[in-house]
Amino acid sequence: MAASSLSISNVPIVAWAIWILLCGNYLDYALHQLVNVAASGSISDLQLEQAKALQETGWWPSSSNISSACDWDGITCNAGGSVTSIDRSYNGFGGQLKLNFSFFPDLVSLNLSGNNLHGHIPLEIGMLKNLTSLYLYSNMLVGPLPTTLVHLTNLEFVYLDENKINGSIPSEIGMLKNLTFLSLSLNMLVGPIPSTIGHLTNLRNLYLDGNKINGSIPPEIWMLKNLTILYLSSNMLVGPIPTTLGHLTNLKRLYLSQNKINGSIPSEIGMLKNLTTLYLDSNMLVDPIPSTIGHLTNLEKLYLDGNKINGSIPPEIGMLKNLIFLSLSSNLLISPIPTTLGHLTNLEYLDLSQNKINGSIPPEIGMLENLTTLYLHSNMLVGPIPFIWDNLTYLEYLDLSINYLTGSIPYHEHNLYWVKHVNLSHNFLSGDIPVALGTAAVGRLLSLDLSYNNLTGHIPPSLIKIKEINLSHNSLKGQIPDGFDKHHKSHTLIGNMDLCGQFKIFPPCPKRKKSIATKIEIFAPITTFLGFCVIGGILFSRCVFKENQLELRKSKNGNIFSIWNYDGHIAYEDIIEATEDFDIRYCIGTGGYGSVYKAKLPSENVVALKKLHQREAENPVFFRSFINEVRVLTEIRHRNIVKLHGFCVHKGCRFLIYEYMERGSLFCVLRNVDEAMELDWSKRVNIIKGTAHALSYMHHECIPSIVHRDISSNNILLNSEFQAFISDFGTAKLLDPDSSNQTLVAGTYGYIAPEFAYTMTVTEKCDVYSFGVVALEVLMGRHPGELLSSLSSSSSQNMMLNEILDQRLPPPNRLIGQDILLVATVAFACLHTQPKSRPTMKCVSQEFLSRKKPNVIPLTTVLLPQLRKQATYMAGSGFAYC
Ligand SMILES: *[C@@H]1O[C@H](CO)[C@@H](O)[C@H](O)[C@H]1NC(C)=O
Ligand SMILES: *[C@@H]1O[C@H](CO)[C@@H](O)[C@H](O)[C@H]1NC(C)=O
Ligand SMILES: *[C@@H]1O[C@H](CO)[C@@H](O)[C@H](O)[C@H]1NC(C)=O
Ligand SMILES: *[C@@H]1O[C@H](CO)[C@@H](O)[C@H](O)[C@H]1NC(C)=O
Ligand SMILES: *[C@@H]1O[C@H](CO)[C@@H](O)[C@H](O)[C@H]1NC(C)=O
Ligand SMILES: *[C@@H]1O[C@H](CO)[C@@H](O)[C@H](O)[C@H]1NC(C)=O
Ligand SMILES: *[C@@H]1O[C@H](CO)[C@@H](O)[C@H](O)[C@H]1NC(C)=O
Ligand SMILES: *[C@@H]1O[C@H](CO)[C@@H](O)[C@H](O)[C@H]1NC(C)=O
Ligand SMILES: *[C@@H]1O[C@H](CO)[C@@H](O)[C@H](O)[C@H]1NC(C)=O
Ligand SMILES: *[C@@H]1O[C@H](CO)[C@@H](O)[C@H](O)[C@H]1NC(C)=O
Repeated sequence: MAASSLSISNVPIVAWAIWILLCGNYLDYALHQLVNVAASGSISDLQLEQAKALQETGWWPSSSNISSACDWDGITCNAGGSVTSIDRSYNGFGGQLKLNFSFFPDLVSLNLSGNNLHGHIPLEIGMLKNLTSLYLYSNMLVGPLPTTLVHLTNLEFVYLDENKINGSIPSEIGMLKNLTFLSLSLNMLVGPIPSTIGHLTNLRNLYLDGNKINGSIPPEIWMLKNLTILYLSSNMLVGPIPTTLGHLTNLKRLYLSQNKINGSIPSEIGMLKNLTTLYLDSNMLVDPIPSTIGHLTNLEKLYLDGNKINGSIPPEIGMLKNLIFLSLSSNLLISPIPTTLGHLTNLEYLDLSQNKINGSIPPEIGMLENLTTLYLHSNMLVGPIPFIWDNLTYLEYLDLSINYLTGSIPYHEHNLYWVKHVNLSHNFLSGDIPVALGTAAVGRLLSLDLSYNNLTGHIPPSLIKIKEINLSHNSLKGQIPDGFDKHHKSHTLIGNMDLCGQFKIFPPCPKRKKSIATKIEIFAPITTFLGFCVIGGILFSRCVFKENQLELRKSKNGNIFSIWNYDGHIAYEDIIEATEDFDIRYCIGTGGYGSVYKAKLPSENVVALKKLHQREAENPVFFRSFINEVRVLTEIRHRNIVKLHGFCVHKGCRFLIYEYMERGSLFCVLRNVDEAMELDWSKRVNIIKGTAHALSYMHHECIPSIVHRDISSNNILLNSEFQAFISDFGTAKLLDPDSSNQTLVAGTYGYIAPEFAYTMTVTEKCDVYSFGVVALEVLMGRHPGELLSSLSSSSSQNMMLNEILDQRLPPPNRLIGQDILLVATVAFACLHTQPKSRPTMKCVSQEFLSRKKPNVIPLTTVLLPQLRKQATYMAGSGFAYC
């Protein structure tokens, strides 16, 4: 519209008037132009000068229209043809910022972020009197903030983060009364924060983190009532946090980490009711945590570690029902752990290590069902380790080392079967090492440190497969299990007086009669397994095939039926009754090699049943898939992998019992308009992340690792909350170092990695590729096949990321936009044609987990070819968490 009204600017005035009469609805524009004509005498002069000034930057092709820049890429003009907005963000432009600003009196927005611009910010920037938005972040700009900047009193948004700007923040900054968003993070600013910052009463977001700012925080900051986000971390700020902080009642995130802030945490902190994130770690704070902290009921992350906080942990902390991360480590806390901690049921990360906490570990810790990390090491805890494992099914990291814990290592059938790293060293634990610990360890436990205790008995043979183990300085005795020396060095056993064999530091074992010796050798592992299966009710693959050795529950008609992983009762008869013997009415879908039924049990619980069809049950290929699925799913457990509750296997009865997924497959949800709309951006991002975590677990935490081989939107199921669960392990393969990885084709067309066609070799990278396809499919709302084949063609060169996103959803907001950008970049990295260049799922998963400061790149500025380049770079070296 603007362009069409501009194009008539050369037509004589008379014709103009007629045009105005004819096109009344353009009257406003027309009048505006007349005013401009009257004011400047010549529109085209300014237009010409602007086009010329822009052209001189070299940021546009030389073939551009030299009489007006209005139709150039990234340029917006007002009705008078004068440039109001310049957006050349993320183009990789280098060199100096040498645009002659004197020609742009109407410029409202200047966006040159994400380039490679060097040199100073020109003083002439002060001529852009109408500027409201200044985006220069992620460049290499140096020198101090130009003094002329403070004349731009219309400025609302200033993003100068990630440059090399030095000098101090000028006190004149207080003149920018309209500022709502100021980011100077990650520069080299020095000197104190000027007190005039208190004049910026409209400020909502203030980011000054990652500089070398010193002095104390000016009291005026605590008067900026509209602040919702305040980042001052990683500077050299000193002095206390004043009580006036209580005025910032709108504050949602407060980051003061890594400074030299001293004094106590004021009790007024309790007034910041909207706070979700509070980082005060790595400072010099003293005195106890105020009990008013309990008022911050919206708090999700609380980091107070690395201070000199003393006193006891206030029981009121138990009121922070939304807390997910709590770190109080490396302080001077005393007294026992309050039992109220058991109320924090959303907690995933609890770190109280390196304090002087005494008393015993409260059993209430056992209520924290979502806990993945429990660090209580280096304290003065006494008494036995309570039986807390029942509910801690997601626990991955457990460190209770360097305390005064006594008693034996508690265990149970459900004990520790999720855990990866256990450190109980430097305590006074006694008794035997539980066999179950080792058995559970077959697939999951990566490190186990039990050194410096008083453990007795033999070393369970099952421990030898744990990657890192330390049993030194205990009272273990007897023969070291066979093969221990192949996996571990002698120092992992040193300091156990009564061990024998294998290593030179121990005496040889006394000779036994041969027959007995072999008997022990052969039966020890089997009894271990059986013991575990029977005690624990957990079936490992080896158990499944030894049907006769297993005490599986038999139904009345002799079917072998096994249930575990399930907190109720299911009887074979219940299932037959619930589905009226697999009546078609209960069938909800047909999968790779069978049909899926929905069964409502007498307990009102709903389960899904996958039944192998009669004909297929007789086909050895399908039967193998079925058994394979049982094999794999009994070994693994992850919050994004569908849970197998049990199975039935016998002539005429071949079905698997799963947890029921209300929303069905991702494929179907994406193809149903209503459901696809319900699947908003944050749900979609969570689905992709969840899938990545599950794959990372299968590839990197299972031994041998498991390759799914058929990752597709069909095989990702969604529960009522749209959380993702990988299913259908019929084609999954255990990558055994000893057996061939060559295989038959498996997988779904459109998701299979290209190299598979010619190598026929399965590696984890096949799943990585399929994951990339699924991730794009979730963002696009449809299979990305066409896009992938068009990417190399010229038609896609100007395609923006936002154009490929599912158009049925409203465009993502800025925050979730950053997640989408990350997911898209990762997806393209996963789709690299060279398997070697794809990232591992571990990298992907960790990239997704990393706590990142949200940055601010709008998707409308991201070109697909650029994104792919970035993806290649990331896979090459840029994945920060590999
Ligand atoms: C250049 O832009 C002006 C003003 O928008 C227009 O009148 C002219 O036709 C354009 N010239 C070319 C070659 O596109
Ligand atoms: C910008 O243009 C004006 C007018 O032509 C000129 O006087 C000035 O020197 C130029 N500034 C720079 C930095 O080139
Ligand atoms: C700035 O914007 C105002 C309206 O917001 C407009 O009247 C004026 O022409 C623009 N340019 C300058 C140089 O003030
Ligand atoms: C806190 O947040 C809510 C909702 O975002 C908002 O309505 C309220 O004004 C904020 N401030 C206070 C002091 O509660
Ligand atoms: C805090 O640090 C400042 C500056 O280093 C010092 O002057 C002051 O005495 C300290 N206050 C407390 C309570 O330690
Ligand atoms: C655990 O986390 C999930 C989401 O990840 C949440 O839905 C659930 O309520 C949490 N469990 C408890 C006991 O709070
Ligand atoms: C597990 O959680 C339930 C319900 O939250 C609780 O009643 C039970 O005591 C917990 N078990 C342990 C061992 O803490
Ligand atoms: C270790 O346990 C043995 C047997 O229970 C006991 O005799 C011994 O005193 C214990 N040693 C230590 C250091 O606790
Ligand atoms: C099969 O793949 C796994 C994992 O990539 C690898 O460790 C193993 O050595 C491979 N086995 C053979 C025989 O190539
Ligand atoms: C760049 O400026 C344009 C125009 O104001 C704006 O729409 C866009 O969001 C800005 N880009 C970034 C990266 O903020």
